[in-house]
Amino acid sequence: MSWLTRFKDDHKAVLFLLDKLEGLLKDTEYLGLRPTMFAEFNEFVEVVDDDIHPHFKAEEETVYPMAASVGEEARRFIDGMLDEHRKLYKVFDGFKQAVERKDAEEIRKYGFEIVKWLRVHIKKEETEVRWLVEQAEANQR
Ligand SMILES: [Fe+2]
Ligand SMILES: [Fe+2]
Repeated sequence: MSWLTRFKDDHKAVLFLLDKLEGLLKDTEYLGLRPTMFAEFNEFVEVVDDDIHPHFKAEEETVYPMAASVGEEARRFIDGMLDEHRKLYKVFDGFKQAVERKDAEEIRKYGFEIVKWLRVHIKKEETEVRWLVEQAEANQR
């Protein structure tokens, strides 16, 4: 299986989870924090640790250098993507700590940031980054 397929499958799974997380965050606005919600927030934290973190690292080591190799403009674009990873690592951390503290307001704050930024980030990977990697592959031929 090519990395493109693997990453695409990961992205699809994460987008599905983001919809779920967004719904749950909205529920907390009028229902407050329910014990059953914690199980799901904890589950999302586990997915971040076990799947999303390794996915980011793999991109930083494989896909991004390849995309950046296309040229100067591509390199600058990928620098921006790396900044987004750094920003998201911090937000993931804030969310995890908020869940540990059971702090509803912070869970919503970090949770909605994850939903918003990660969706935009994935969209860029599925369009611009994909295109750059295809360019890099074509250049190698
Ligand atoms: Fe990424
Ligand atoms: Fe990704």
